[in-house]
Amino acid sequence: MEHASAAAPDDLVRRHVSPGASLIAVLHAIQDEVGFVPPDVVAPLARAFNLSRAEVHGVITYYHHFRTRPPAHVTVALCRAEACRSMGTEALARHIEGRTRCRFDAAHGAGNAGEHAGRDGHAEVELESVYCLGQCALSPSMTINGALHVKVTPEKFDTLFDTARAEATSSVSNPAEGA
Ligand code: FES
Repeated sequence: MEHASAAAPDDLVRRHVSPGASLIAVLHAIQDEVGFVPPDVVAPLARAFNLSRAEVHGVITYYHHFRTRPPAHVTVALCRAEACRSMGTEALARHIEGRTRCRFDAAHGAGNAGEHAGRDGHAEVELESVYCLGQCALSPSMTINGALHVKVTPEKFDTLFDTARAEATSSVSNPAEGA
């Protein structure tokens, strides 16, 4: 994943649209390539699928998975499904919000991802709720930048978060190392 919208929107769409491909599949492919669905692909997608721009926009905003801006440097996805809730996920969520000074799920839609907006267009931290990571016996579970962590306590989270932030800072300072 490049985490950048370097490709021209028309080229990006053309590369992923193929006979029989659904709009959803193409949106997944675009997000996999550049890290998000850039707003300027809406018009070429609408042309490719013979839809209105409003219809394409509606699909993008309907599915929580699709993001319309670059991902944060540190993305925390906390499981808030039943097994994890029974093991203290909600208290952990409050701890995480206090520690990061961000709110869960604020990045979806028009919300603010937090007060840590970076100068490179990426928010520093983003908190997402997810519902079951398949680790119910080891709850509470979460991912941080895609890496799975289980039996997470507030103390364990603080350590993991500090490490993830340090790695993010290092890769921003030395982009070649983060590639
Ligand atoms: S309920 Fe959290 S991992 Fe299944």
